[in-house]
Amino acid sequence: MSERVRVICPLNESDERTLADDVLDGLTRPFKELAPKHFYDETGGELFDQICDLPGYYPTRAERSIFEADGAEIVAASGMAELVELGSGTAEKTMILIDQAAAAGTLQRYVPFDVTEAMVRRCSEICGERFTDAEIIGVVGDFERHLEYIPPPIEGAPRVVALLGGTIGNFVPGSRRQLLRAIAALLRPGIDHLLLGTDLVKDPAVIEAAYNDSAGVTAAFNRNVLSVINCSLDADFDVDAFEHVAFYDRGQEWIEMRLRASRAMHVKIAAIPLAIDFASGEELRTEVSAKFTPQRLADDLGAAGLKLEKTWTDSEGRFALSLSSPVV
Ligand code: SAH
Ligand code: AVI
Repeated sequence: MSERVRVICPLNESDERTLADDVLDGLTRPFKELAPKHFYDETGGELFDQICDLPGYYPTRAERSIFEADGAEIVAASGMAELVELGSGTAEKTMILIDQAAAAGTLQRYVPFDVTEAMVRRCSEICGERFTDAEIIGVVGDFERHLEYIPPPIEGAPRVVALLGGTIGNFVPGSRRQLLRAIAALLRPGIDHLLLGTDLVKDPAVIEAAYNDSAGVTAAFNRNVLSVINCSLDADFDVDAFEHVAFYDRGQEWIEMRLRASRAMHVKIAAIPLAIDFASGEELRTEVSAKFTPQRLADDLGAAGLKLEKTWTDSEGRFALSLSSPVV
């Protein structure tokens, strides 16, 4: 990689403890749970890409259609010179937006930030080839803990920090606002913006279908978190003995994904070390995916010191992209 395209990887040994700490904390709770960020090893990333192509998984297509229809307007409204994307993954649909910034002549820098190193390296390389006039700085890190590794903004150049795909919905309300506050701290009042992708509240049947595909891809993605623990922490989960469960909680307005033990199990996690028991039928929560109303969105942004400026939705009103800025 050239100087124009580079990757920063600030993780050290204590960061590798995070999975062990999260597993110890989550699996010793009265209702067991795991943080969804641990889905995404290379296999998890590939399974997520397959999910995005499933006929019933509408969020990716809906968000892409907004970029296609309104990308130029988003660039004009934000003056986007620098795009910092948290949880960038392959950045496949983001590139449609970056194309618009390049065409408008505003683009100076793209910063893909993700917890999976291979993904950041691949994405930085591809973007380096596609956006030849821009600086590409990949950052490998956890956006809940390593935002300080994002390079300082370019003086006088509008920065947009993006969190797309509905990833903000993978946080429960308290940690969601905490994350939004930390992101808001990266933004300079009067010049920078947050671009947030949120899946919207709709017919529960449509939402549930998106998380219960007949090909079993979402089930494989869900179970993959156990394979990650087996590989990284020398554990002996019988991955196939857990059933995929996904249902829409109408009170919370979120999808909840769980893994249900199909029989009683005793699991050893050697690297912690920890031994835990699952009763037959016991469920482990692996993800929530919150859906938003305009009110929920405005309230969450407001609680983080952000003011909603403009919202774009797809033609079927399934998904929203919003631009907000720090309150001066
Ligand atoms: N933004 C892409 C990918 C969404 S999948 C899209 O819209 O399609 C969620 C992405 O966020 C994955 O690439 C995952 O590795 C990353 N991710 C999840 N939790 C993270 C965290 N705490 N820190 C950094 N990246 C994270
Ligand atoms: C990354 N995130 C927004 C996805 C979602 O829809 O909550 C992850 C996912 N889980 C199951 N399918 C997709």
